[in-house]
Order: sequence, then C-alpha cells, then structure tokens
Amino acid sequence: MPRGLFITLEGLDGSGKTTQIKRLGAWMARRGLAVIETRQPGGTAAGERIREILLDSRSGTLAPLTEVALAFAARAQAIVEVIEPALAAGKMVLCDRFTDSTEAYQGGGRELGSAIVLELHRLICGDLQPDLTLLLLPGFEASLARARRRNDRMEQATGTNEGRFEQEQDAFYRRVWQKYREIAAREPERVVLIEGDLGIDEVHEQIVEAVSERLVLAG
Ligand code: TMP
Repeated sequence: MPRGLFITLEGLDGSGKTTQIKRLGAWMARRGLAVIETRQPGGTAAGERIREILLDSRSGTLAPLTEVALAFAARAQAIVEVIEPALAAGKMVLCDRFTDSTEAYQGGGRELGSAIVLELHRLICGDLQPDLTLLLLPGFEASLARARRRNDRMEQATGTNEGRFEQEQDAFYRRVWQKYREIAAREPERVVLIEGDLGIDEVHEQIVEAVSERLVLAG
C-alpha cells in the first residue's frame, strides 16, 4: 500500500489555519481519499494534556527550553500513536502545526535559534518531514488582531484561555514571522507560502492547487 502524504499547516495565531484544514479535509474526503486531521501540540490524550500546560495562561512563565521540551514530548507521542500508523495505512495526514512551529515560536520568538530545534527534531522525529507544508502568512497586523479577539472571546466565554502566546508583545510575533519566512526561503520545495490578506475561498483555492500537484506527483 502506498504511504499517505503528510501535510502540515503553519502560520501565526489567527492566520486561519484551522478553518483551512477543515476545508481541505472535506475536499480530500469528497475525492475519496482517506484523511485524518490532527494538531500539535495535541492529537493524543497525553498530547492534549501537554497542550494545556503549554498554552494555559495560568502556566505563567515557562522557560523557553521547557516549551521546546513540551512541544517535542507531545510530538513524539503523536508520531507513534497517530501520524506514523495513519501514513503507513495509506491515509493523508493533515496536521495543524508541526516542528516549523517550534522553530518559529521557540527558535525565533523565544530566540533559542533554529539549531537546537532542528537537532531535537532529528533525535526525536528521525527523518519524518512533511511532504508539504502550507504556510499561511496573511498581513501581520490582521492576524495579530484576529488572534487577540479570539483570545478575549474565549476568556469571556470560559474564564480560561489558550492565550499564553497571544498575549505576547508584537516584537515576539515579528520574530516568529521572520523565522517562518526564513524557513520558507530555506525549504522552497516543501513549504508553499500563501501570503497577503486573501479571503477564505482564495486561500482554499491556493491550497487545493498545491495539494493537487503533490497528489499527482505521488501518483
Ligand atoms: P493553535 O493550535 O491555536 O495554533 O495554537 C497553538 C499555539 O502554540 C500557538 O500560539 C503556537 C504555539 N506553539 C509553540 O509555541 N510551539 C510549538 O511547537 C507548537 C506546535 C505550537
């Protein structure tokens, strides 16, 4: 059985990834492809608990290396429990964030640099790399405003939030943004950059185009 494709979506908070993953998953399912959707951090029982620690604003100031360790702990479990079995069974795996997020947020945003993240990826994830990464980078100001609005709504509705990162200063997000662009420039074969303030439909069309190309290549 041919292995499935591993497709990741990346971008700043508020970039619209989650909406696009759902639409892409539905598009693939309509074409008769077996597809699973998962997310990082999360995707497994342990991973979702790790997500809470990483994202809950009550976790206070986690050290940057703690963030990296938590992100890779969730990832290690997801690879064994979810991602590898699905790919081996010929399924398409759509993953909301993967190691590029750790490189952008902890390597860039927290200024740990790329090397430590790439080395941990090698040790923990081996040679598992996405076949395709869709990087959504709408206008910086627009995505930041959207992330903050979403965070306020969640806090009002539930009294809690996943907002440790949304509460960061603009300078943090600028570094994340910059690191994402660096990754896209370094790996143009893997990373398809979808830029600008496009509508949901336009972004979906660009995603479908990129995915269709890979599906043809994969035969
Ligand atoms: P999201 O699931 O709403 O995209 O939010 C996940 C948040 O976690 C987002 O702010 C990015 C952050 N994050 C990291 O800082 N490092 C990581 O390795 C991952 C996967 C996410």
